Amino acid sequence: MNKTKTQFTCNNCTYTTLKWFGCCPECKAWDSLSEQRIISKNATHTQRVEPSNFLKNLADIETKDHPRVCAGIDEWDRVIGGGLVPGSLIIVTGDPGIGKSTLLLQIAALLSQKKKVFYFSTEESLQQIKSRAIRLQTTPDALLFSDTADLNSIITVAEEQRPDIIILDSIQNCYLTDTQALPGSINQLKEATFRLMRLSKEKTITVIVTGHITKEGIIAGPKTLEHMVDAVFYLQGEERWQTRILRAVKNRFGAINELGFFSMEQNGLQEIPNINAHLINDISYAPGSVLISIMEGSRPLLLELQALTNPSKLAMPQRVVSGVDPKQVILIAAILEKYLKIKLSMSDIFFKISGSFKIRGNESDLGIALALLSSYFQKPLPEKSIALGEISLTGQIKPVNNSASLIKEAVKFGIERLFVAHNQTVEKGQYTINRFHNVYDLLHLFSE
Ligand code: TYD
Ligand code: MG
Repeated sequence: MNKTKTQFTCNNCTYTTLKWFGCCPECKAWDSLSEQRIISKNATHTQRVEPSNFLKNLADIETKDHPRVCAGIDEWDRVIGGGLVPGSLIIVTGDPGIGKSTLLLQIAALLSQKKKVFYFSTEESLQQIKSRAIRLQTTPDALLFSDTADLNSIITVAEEQRPDIIILDSIQNCYLTDTQALPGSINQLKEATFRLMRLSKEKTITVIVTGHITKEGIIAGPKTLEHMVDAVFYLQGEERWQTRILRAVKNRFGAINELGFFSMEQNGLQEIPNINAHLINDISYAPGSVLISIMEGSRPLLLELQALTNPSKLAMPQRVVSGVDPKQVILIAAILEKYLKIKLSMSDIFFKISGSFKIRGNESDLGIALALLSSYFQKPLPEKSIALGEISLTGQIKPVNNSASLIKEAVKFGIERLFVAHNQTVEKGQYTINRFHNVYDLLHLFSE
């Protein structure tokens, strides 16, 4: 006989306990615990499975080759990993008002020209969607819409009518009538995601859902779902050029950290294929400014690093760093101080990357060092130059990978001078090359 007992789970944070509490011990939400019946572990041991049906050899598994589905918007298709994979579940997330619904309606309209696509809007009425479609100047004749928020109906319709692609905007607004979890709670969100995952895998339907980042922190929202889905994309705003960046943060079928650039126009999101032209037009060529080229996903990006160093009046000089890891800047400042005997530890250091980009990796070390020195000596670097190099703790300048594509992209935008490690392999071209063995060599740039 199955032994059953009860447990209590918080609808807000999924904390589980055997005792009922009025206030959740984990997240302190009141009256959020709901009762569930659980079957004890001993009971499940008595269920026997047939091993011959249970385990399979890879050779016995049939595979079908499903080609990827491209929408025809290059910035989207590239970030997705070269088109949508049939039977995948992906989340597009971002702040409210950033353009998720706009982007997905555009994508759905394009995809519906070659595939069967259903668009479920749980947040907006059909009239609102129609007025958006008019604004976007699309008349997606083959695209079918519904504004139901009942997930079971959505799944039933999908199972019966077998579309290739479903768009669900947004998952937070769906409800399930057959669970105890409260609408909008994390438990229900997880259950909804689980059911959509089964739908996509069992019926080979691509499911694209949108999700909000909640104000309290992303933990309570789509972040909890990240491990359950195939891919997660963030649509983010970029403060400087009114651009929108689509970023892959998880992708089972493609590279992560791939970026797609769009601008929000009167008629929807328009792709920006030549983002480096925007970036390079903005360079200041003032002391403290250095241009670097780094790989973001599969594409080289030209970015301006900006440093400001000032003698500090505080016992603990300030370190205000954004866009790169503060430890990286502090480490390079320490290397420069140690080997060049300059008093950066007595200076306030402010450091940022123009725009709101965030970069990782040591390819930017040389750029960071040059930006700090240029501000410290109040001397600008030669115009139209880029820095590519790592710096070791001993002060040696090291070569970087992917230099050929980084330099090629830089030259396309008029770069005439390269600052690189002494042993960096560089193809011959229309540029001057300044090679450095170690950080002492950098002083020559600021000595005259
Ligand atoms: P929306 O796609 O509704 O954002 P989300 O679904 O992420 O909440 O986008 C809303 C914003 O986009 C709104 O401020 C208006 C603006 N917008 C345009 O500038 N141009 C357009 O063509 C459209 C459809 C929206
Ligand atoms: Mg929306």
